[in-house]
Amino acid sequence: MIIQENISLKPFNSFGIDVSAKYFSILALQAQLDSIKQEYVQTKGNNLLVLGGGSNVLFTKPFDGWIVKNELKGIQLISEDATSYLIEAAAGENWHEFVLHCIQQGWAGLENLSLIPGSVGASPIQNIGAYGVEIKDTFHSLDAYHIQENNIHTFTLNDCKFGYRDSIFKKTLKDQYLILKVRFRLNKQHQLTTCYGAIANELEKMCVQEPTIADISNAVIRIRTSKLPDPKLLGNAGSFFKNPVVSKQHYEQILASFPNVHAYPTIDHQMKLAAGWLIEQCGWKGYRHGEVGCHALQALVLVNYGHASGTEILALSNEIIQSIENKFGVILEREVNIH
Ligand code: EPU
Repeated sequence: MIIQENISLKPFNSFGIDVSAKYFSILALQAQLDSIKQEYVQTKGNNLLVLGGGSNVLFTKPFDGWIVKNELKGIQLISEDATSYLIEAAAGENWHEFVLHCIQQGWAGLENLSLIPGSVGASPIQNIGAYGVEIKDTFHSLDAYHIQENNIHTFTLNDCKFGYRDSIFKKTLKDQYLILKVRFRLNKQHQLTTCYGAIANELEKMCVQEPTIADISNAVIRIRTSKLPDPKLLGNAGSFFKNPVVSKQHYEQILASFPNVHAYPTIDHQMKLAAGWLIEQCGWKGYRHGEVGCHALQALVLVNYGHASGTEILALSNEIIQSIENKFGVILEREVNIH
């Protein structure tokens, strides 16, 4: 495995932050795992970070360790039964290209997750979700390499402990595994999820009455491109914060002072508040200070206008968190991983 030294990470993170990594390698073949173990033991990787698409990370300082960019490729149909297909995708596949491939093959279930930046391997880590669907809904299992133990483990749906933008890989197993392959159980009968208001509106605009999975994907692509900035043009990492979940009682208190609060009940009878709305109410939407800002069309997204540092973006996020706490008594949690 080739190990480069002092490499700029600018092309490898969607925020476009220009920091260097002490060591940098590309993992293209599973057979290279042994050399990861060897180098790890020989201390290069004591501080090892696996990077997928780099679309959920904010670098605030040079990375004093070893970045391994996962570029394992391959998509295959493993088996099928009367109602479903079992599909396996290598972790380094681009997520959106994988979704489009599934749609072309008629494998249903991921269409609402079109155009999410990042890689297949990163998708289970934060249980990516959009427009009423999360990957836990079609997830079957994954194989992951334990870096220190030098062996491969399989994780089932239960093992992953998926939650809202959460999994065991963000908690007790954080930074211990390198995800190799993810398997999904996709449907032959297309059960469309169109409950999310924006999708229904978009399909109407598209004059589609009986949508196919490709129509749903197109509707999602249109919605996302209409309000989420393209990281190739404006550095960002999608939603910077999670939508906070509060108790019914706390929600009632907020509602009493802010009758327009945007919120949705969760399955465990709490309330999920729209963080974009909270941020907008504090006057941040469209805010720009130097090279950093809060996107004008979706307040949950922080942006790099070109030459921002990670610390500037982090500082803006802290100011936002503080102002939301002051106004609503709610503490926002970051969705993006800070390094
Ligand atoms: N809203 C505002 N102001 C804003 C943004 C949103 O008032 O600036 C309000 C909207 O009017 C709406 C509500 O907030 O009532 C929800 O907005 P939206 O549908 O845009 O979704 P979101 O909750 O802001 C979440 C995900 C997105 C995902 C969308 C669609 C999180 C943290 N974010 O955003 O995921 O695409 O739903 O399902 O859950 C991501 O994780 O990177 C991401 C983009």
